[in-house]
Amino acid sequence: MTVVAHTIAEVRQAVSQWRREGKTIGLVPTMGYLHEGHQSLIDQAVHDCDCVVVSVFVNPTQFGPGEDLESYPRDFNHDFALCEAAGAALVFHPEPEELYYPNRSTTIHMAELSEELCGKSRPIHFDGVCLVVAKLFNIVTPDKAYFGQKDAQQLLIIKRMVRDLNFPLEVVGCPIIREADGLAKSSRNTYLSEAERQAAVVLSRAIACGRELAASGERDPHAITQAMREVLAGEPLADVEYVEIVSQACVKPVEGLIDEPILCAIAVRIGTTRLIDNFFFDPNA
Ligand code: PAJ
Repeated sequence: MTVVAHTIAEVRQAVSQWRREGKTIGLVPTMGYLHEGHQSLIDQAVHDCDCVVVSVFVNPTQFGPGEDLESYPRDFNHDFALCEAAGAALVFHPEPEELYYPNRSTTIHMAELSEELCGKSRPIHFDGVCLVVAKLFNIVTPDKAYFGQKDAQQLLIIKRMVRDLNFPLEVVGCPIIREADGLAKSSRNTYLSEAERQAAVVLSRAIACGRELAASGERDPHAITQAMREVLAGEPLADVEYVEIVSQACVKPVEGLIDEPILCAIAVRIGTTRLIDNFFFDPNA
């Protein structure tokens, strides 16, 4: 049976019961409007842990002014049904007032790793993500927490925060789940018109192009990003925000040749919808 908790006290009560029973706990943080990408995280958590908590919370502190906080898609009944079918033990669905005191004064600032890629156009985004995820970690006290590689910079940042702040848990990264034509699944795909949806496949085509070049031995980051830009330029509806190759260790652009694990990431506007995609590559693997 899957239960819904709206308050922190209810979550703590369930968690302490599970702890008394010696159970392991997995956490899957989400903003809802769940799809197969989220489900793959829940499936992995259910496989690994005795009791799985899925949080469904559109976190206001990670949205900047003018971003899509109000219009972000929501469908809690659908989300609950998906969590139940996947075998989650508890769905935590708080109101913003439950998580955030009006006079809260503590922030978490992720330096360095949040400065490039999405951090450039979304300067407060990752601090808001860190804040809510740290709070969820303290409320749920999971043994393992699951994050998608879809949001690769977020994954690297959460791993760094867990290390730096000594959270006693393991961060598990999960692969990107895609539509049949390659488009990475995203709650924001619902914003796309039919023509935009067709155009959006150019992101995964650019990613495939970059990945193939890297796999075939290309070590010049500019050669890879240039080839990817050319793929993106072939789609008139695509407006490129960035195409970057950064070090996985510090999320800074790779100068010179690729000789360490990298993240190659892109952000592209299709109409008014901002989409992201990426691949990891380790030249020494
Ligand atoms: P959200 O965008 O709902 O994503 C929740 C989790 O699902 C993230 O870890 C994300 O990387 C993963 N995910 C989304 N699409 C995926 C896909 N196609 N394949 C694999 N994993 C995918 O990311 C957030 O919410 C928020 O920033 C959050 C961490 C919940 C903090 O508010």
